[in-house]
Amino acid sequence: DRSIRIAPSILSADFADFGREIRAIEAQGADWVHVDVMDGHFVPNLTFGPPAVKAFRKHVRTVMDVHLMIAPVDPYIDAYAEAGADILTAHLEAGPHIHRTLQAIRGAGMKAGVALNPGTPAESVAHLLELADLVCVMTVNPGFGGQKFLDMTGKVRALRRMIGDRPIHIEIDGGVDPVTAPLVAAAGADVLVAGSAVFRGGSVDNPAPYGDNIRAI
Ligand code: DX5
Ligand code: ZN
Repeated sequence: DRSIRIAPSILSADFADFGREIRAIEAQGADWVHVDVMDGHFVPNLTFGPPAVKAFRKHVRTVMDVHLMIAPVDPYIDAYAEAGADILTAHLEAGPHIHRTLQAIRGAGMKAGVALNPGTPAESVAHLLELADLVCVMTVNPGFGGQKFLDMTGKVRALRRMIGDRPIHIEIDGGVDPVTAPLVAAAGADVLVAGSAVFRGGSVDNPAPYGDNIRAI
């Protein structure tokens, strides 16, 4: 019996109040804190970089799960280690040498994740599993919160068969809500990222809805 972790994405938080938002979601039951880094190049949106992530670290008491939607990745790995990322996830599509990137992430002392865009098959990680602590299955095209869930349950099932009982997380990112979460959990996912479905209806000054939303997922 696999326990499900909820990782709220602070992409849906108040960008002027990240410290209090992080403390609020953790107080409301978040298992991990998911940090979406976008570069305006690999994805058509721009968020924040290593100095901001380092500032977030001071407020995270659980696990800081950093999702890089940037290309290239390798020149920034040390900066994210220094910023205090516990898990650093890079996209398989971000460059020609994901194998080297995963080695470098572990070499810098972090857990290594590999993320797959919706168009990328499960089989593309077959030769990476020895180097990965997490596989992130994107259930939206990355770049924005609040998009419609794309059904990738077949991909999740295939990954679960490939991974078996190895200690590798299967994380789902995009459009996770109380309707879609059970589908991906049944297919074998164990970490659910959720942005809009966690933050809707609440605020830093009224965080109780965050807790209700987390429990509803
Ligand atoms: C999308 C990001 C997600 C996003 C999820 O590019 O990687 O983490 O914030 O947001 P929701 O849950 O609103 O789809
Ligand atoms: Zn993400």
